[in-house]
Amino acid sequence: MKRLWQYRHILGSRKFIASLWHSRKNVLAANRGRYPVIGPYMVELDVTYRCNCRCFMCQRWQDPRRDELSLAEYRALAREFHGLGVCQVSIAGGEPLLRNDLPSIVAAFAGFGMSVNVCTNGILLQERAEALRRAGVSCVTVSLDGAGAETHEKARGAAGSYGRIEQGIRHLKARASHSRPLVRVRMTVSNTNVEELCAYYLKWTPIVDHVLVQAVHYSPDAFYTGPDSEAFQLDRTRLARQLDGLPLEKEHYVKTLMTSLRESGSFPRHRCYAGILMVRIDPWGNAYPCLEQHICVGSVRERGFRAVWESDAFNLARKKIAADDRCRCWYNNTALISRYGQWLYRTTAAGLEKDLTHFFHRFSSRYGLTEKRPEQAWQGRRGAGESVPPITGI
Ligand SMILES: C[S@@+](CC[C@H](N)C(=O)[O-])C[C@H]1O[C@@H](n2cnc3c(N)ncnc32)[C@H](O)[C@@H]1O
Ligand code: SF4
Ligand code: SF4
Repeated sequence: MKRLWQYRHILGSRKFIASLWHSRKNVLAANRGRYPVIGPYMVELDVTYRCNCRCFMCQRWQDPRRDELSLAEYRALAREFHGLGVCQVSIAGGEPLLRNDLPSIVAAFAGFGMSVNVCTNGILLQERAEALRRAGVSCVTVSLDGAGAETHEKARGAAGSYGRIEQGIRHLKARASHSRPLVRVRMTVSNTNVEELCAYYLKWTPIVDHVLVQAVHYSPDAFYTGPDSEAFQLDRTRLARQLDGLPLEKEHYVKTLMTSLRESGSFPRHRCYAGILMVRIDPWGNAYPCLEQHICVGSVRERGFRAVWESDAFNLARKKIAADDRCRCWYNNTALISRYGQWLYRTTAAGLEKDLTHFFHRFSSRYGLTEKRPEQAWQGRRGAGESVPPITGI
């Protein structure tokens, strides 16, 4: 409840309330094997791959391409998103604060009432915070990968950055909550920093609005690669020890992550709404259903967003994702969107029926009325005796 209250400016906005109905329609259509009837709930925009860090788990900074989408092109996208009912834009990269026109990009989307989240490594935050605030940014998510400077700076290849980032965060937080964006920190958890998770949470909880974690991924398509594959194999026991007794343990993301690491050593298998509720656009205008499915479905630079969103190529990618019950990953945004989609589906007659069937199977198997296992009834799509599918991610 406290969490919902923190997000009240976003969840109470007219755009969000309208998007509930729109997104529900898309979810319902997807579950009937049809295509979206309106635009996505959220768009992830990577506005550059240039970066002032050298993180061990992310190689985007190595991309030599320039000629990123211009401010005018983002303004045109904002108009199209507005027409299609997009509610939320999440800006990342590379390091988005390296773009001097970032406040104007933010303003282009915020001006249409969309909530805009900026993900940043925070190094330039202090200098840019005021311009971003004035531009109407709703949320700033700062990546910090350690409880102290040493671990963070080592993971990020950015000596001397921790103090600057901390100052930037405190600067943003100094204003009253109604006149500033939500301020969050996010730890990308790997075996290199897992031992600091508890200290990290206790340090940052009193300072920021929300402390997030994200499990590290190995994903060549997302340019999330690194020399040390050991670091990508999250150790569940060490993670559990750190989480023990923390409120973080009860958060949906963390609970599901822990369950799935315990049960399959992999990521949870939920209905994925990538390409239905979410789309990703790279710095050159290429659109993808998600970060990891690097299936380019078209160029918004060449054709505009609507044409790509409604194209056969995109519909083909949606079909593939829906048919591939092995695909799974565990990105923060995806997890949130997936949960949102499941929640919306529950408000439909078909979703309610599925829930009741699930409940009935659980009830009857618990009291010995049936031999069928509830997971089979619910997940259903994997054949009996078939082995656990290969892992996407880690
Ligand atoms: C790619 S960065 C872009 C924004 C900004 N440069 C930053 O670091 O926050 C977005 C988020 O992805 C996270 N990330 C980077 N490499 C990752 C990986 N291999 N697995 C999971 N998350 C990763 C980062 O820590 C960051 O929180
Ligand atoms: S995670 Fe962010 S800060 Fe680190 S290299 Fe990738 S884009 Fe740069
Ligand atoms: S499960 Fe993950 S990788 Fe697969 S389509 Fe969904 S968001 Fe993309």
